Amino acid sequence: MSRHVVVLGGDGIGPEVTGAAVEVLRALDAQLRLGLSFETHTFGGAAIDAHGDPFPAHVLAACRKADAILLGAVGGPQWARVPTAIRPEAGLLRLRSELGLYANIRPLNVHPALVDASPLKRERIEGVDLVVVRELTGGIYFGQRTRSDSRATDECAYSVAEVERVTRTAATLARNRRGKLTSVDKANVLETSRLWRDVVTRVVRDEFPDVQLEHLLVDAMAMYLVSRPRDFDVIVTENLFGDVLTDECAAVSGSLGLMPSASVGDSGPGVYEPIHGSAPDIAGQGVANPYGTILSAAMMLRQSLHAPEAADVLEAAVHRAISDRMLTRDLGGTATTAHATTAVVERLRVTDAVAA
Ligand code: NAD
Ligand code: IPM
Ligand code: MN
Repeated sequence: MSRHVVVLGGDGIGPEVTGAAVEVLRALDAQLRLGLSFETHTFGGAAIDAHGDPFPAHVLAACRKADAILLGAVGGPQWARVPTAIRPEAGLLRLRSELGLYANIRPLNVHPALVDASPLKRERIEGVDLVVVRELTGGIYFGQRTRSDSRATDECAYSVAEVERVTRTAATLARNRRGKLTSVDKANVLETSRLWRDVVTRVVRDEFPDVQLEHLLVDAMAMYLVSRPRDFDVIVTENLFGDVLTDECAAVSGSLGLMPSASVGDSGPGVYEPIHGSAPDIAGQGVANPYGTILSAAMMLRQSLHAPEAADVLEAAVHRAISDRMLTRDLGGTATTAHATTAVVERLRVTDAVAA
């Protein structure tokens, strides 16, 4: 079986962390013969510099032909100086939209060895295990924008169909976990949130009667994520709220550098990327935490490449590397990106059952 991955490193630490993940994937492939092949393209600011477009047509064509896409991050101050200039982030939004990746799955697990790296008290953080399903191709990210000298607007729109499909993704996930779904909105103020709440309520009532549903307002949710994060199983929310709440989740886990994600639609390749950005403040220093990207690669193996055993092996190796305190600076350690990557490669343990 052949499995073809398009790698879009992007900007800043993006190429450093995707490079780390590819190194680990190659080592895994050498043991498991997964038939992996890689094709790298410029993306984001690097593609603006090379081609005048953050997501050139030839890169989109390559993505469409791939089995999965591994992405680093885009953006940086050098592409944000002129307010009207095309930004690297616009390429990322187009990638998500062109491939129909409406559900962005961001899991948060707290590793026992990192409990003390969390800003929260041990008794609040131990055992946290939740997944945020962020709607990714609608809402204020994709509405009309206007700008004059004295005023600016961003339209936020959601259709019933957009809310239905992401609700089904999240409720299916909840059904296969602890059966609890929390929908987050701002229904006390926003019309889109009132529609969101109505649709989520109906879909869960009619199609997922075994799933327990609660609705929370986003401001309260921001508080509960730090006061009682253990209470949540699957959280579903709109694009902007999901963006903000997941950086909060990542901080709760100990570092933004840890949290992986999968962006998926109904068909075609998924995009796998850490939730963090291009971290211009540490780019080029070789100190970025690669674990969020390596864990995204594990999600890619499981969800797009049909290699769930390989995903298990990879996740277990990261788990052991963290247990052995192979930690980068963001987690209070002294490991470089290269040390952490090697630590994972050295801990890939393929059991006889998997290798067979
Ligand atoms: P950021 O996530 O890049 O960085 C925030 C802080 O977290 C920084 O101090 C950074 O050093 C640290 N950090 C992030 N990832 C880390 C890692 N793997 N290891 C160690 N430390 C890490 O957010 P920002 O500074 O607000 O944004 C920088 C640029 O990244 C912006 O242009 C933004 O648009 C872009 N961005 C891109 C993506 C993406 O491509 N998916 C995501 C978020 C932000
Ligand atoms: C993310 C990022 C992106 C987003 C930006 C870079 C467009 O913050 O993937 O979380 O807001 O979706
Ligand atoms: Mn974000």
